Amino acid sequence: MTSNPFPVHTWFPRLWAEIAPIGRDPGTGGYLRYGFTDPVRELERWFRGVAEADGAHAIEPDGNGNLIAWYGPPPERGDAVLLGSHFDSVPYGGGYDGPLGIVSALLAIRALRHEGREFRRPVGVVAFAEEEGSRFGVPCLGSRLLTGALDPARAAALTDSAGVSLAEAMGGRPAGARPELLGRIGAFVELHVEQGRALVDLGAPVGVASGIWPHGRWRLDFDGEANHAGTTRMADRRDPMLTYAFTVLAANKEARLRGAHATVGRVEVEPNATNAIPARVRGWLDARAADAGTLEALVEGVRAKAADRASRDGTNLTVTRESLSPPVEFDGGLVKAFRLAEGVPVLPTAAGHDAGILAEHVPTAMLFVRNPTGVSHSPAEAAEDDDCAEGVRRLADLLAQLAAG
Ligand code: GLV
Ligand code: MN
Ligand code: MN
Repeated sequence: MTSNPFPVHTWFPRLWAEIAPIGRDPGTGGYLRYGFTDPVRELERWFRGVAEADGAHAIEPDGNGNLIAWYGPPPERGDAVLLGSHFDSVPYGGGYDGPLGIVSALLAIRALRHEGREFRRPVGVVAFAEEEGSRFGVPCLGSRLLTGALDPARAAALTDSAGVSLAEAMGGRPAGARPELLGRIGAFVELHVEQGRALVDLGAPVGVASGIWPHGRWRLDFDGEANHAGTTRMADRRDPMLTYAFTVLAANKEARLRGAHATVGRVEVEPNATNAIPARVRGWLDARAADAGTLEALVEGVRAKAADRASRDGTNLTVTRESLSPPVEFDGGLVKAFRLAEGVPVLPTAAGHDAGILAEHVPTAMLFVRNPTGVSHSPAEAAEDDDCAEGVRRLADLLAQLAAG
């Protein structure tokens, strides 16, 4: 073992700078890194290069778009410690959401190798596919396929906004559940940028997650009658935009009343003409709450108000659930292991993560790194290099406890 500590402070900004330009929109500084597109392919090539240079003996694609770099004893031995996150972003998202967890995992391994530590358990770093669901609509697509939470035939038929199917984007149908691979994993730890201001307010560089709020996505189709904006009497209209607008306000109110969160951040209008009453408005409701009962009541409340309004507007409403993620509680032992390192604060989160999907099958934990703006899913998302270096150190400490001799 060397007494010369690994200079995380020097390495973090260096590695970060290598990926920073990939998929960044020069105008806004936001990232356009959608699953199975060139920027993500480029990030995956970079990931392979770093992992191989740091002694990964295998890079395993799991047939679902996820990529795992393996270190230490052969992964077939089982009881592996898996670290990692995702490379993809929301449209014009920040650079830290996802990639920070992968870069930190690679550096934690590099740090332990530098210190001469040998792994006694297999250790993997995973880059999950299409976590945000920005291209095919289903969040945590890769981890849901791997764990069997998403049927591969249904997934294969999902299409993006250009009509390209997932099977086409992947070059074949996804493999679906991989129980033998999942069975080899003894623990999963995802480091992630914090997506709020709790750590800023606490003055803490890192925090550990207690659990994830249940959440889901619902597609709302409001159908009316296209007609002339100038000649159609106001009383004769069947305008789905009115039902839609009312529903957005109702969702906000229903969420506030329950201490929950509701957002309509995406909308499509047909035919989308200034001088025509729309034929259809399609919006997507993202709803999240502290417990499953509250979430159900929230969505039911929005649905009831929207349906009532539709009957008054002469429009039709169809509600389709696109995804639902149940509440998640992370592994007590892993949370404690992080906390033992000097009272790291414990926070719940309302953001979804692949860790939430894995937690149903494998002891799982998350470590958050302070975000000075508290903003996420936006180019304003941020993290200080010093805090990122602290995150790497904490991750390396946990990895050493779990897997290093
Ligand atoms: C993922 O970031 C989500 O919570 O939508
Ligand atoms: Mn995200
Ligand atoms: Mn994320």
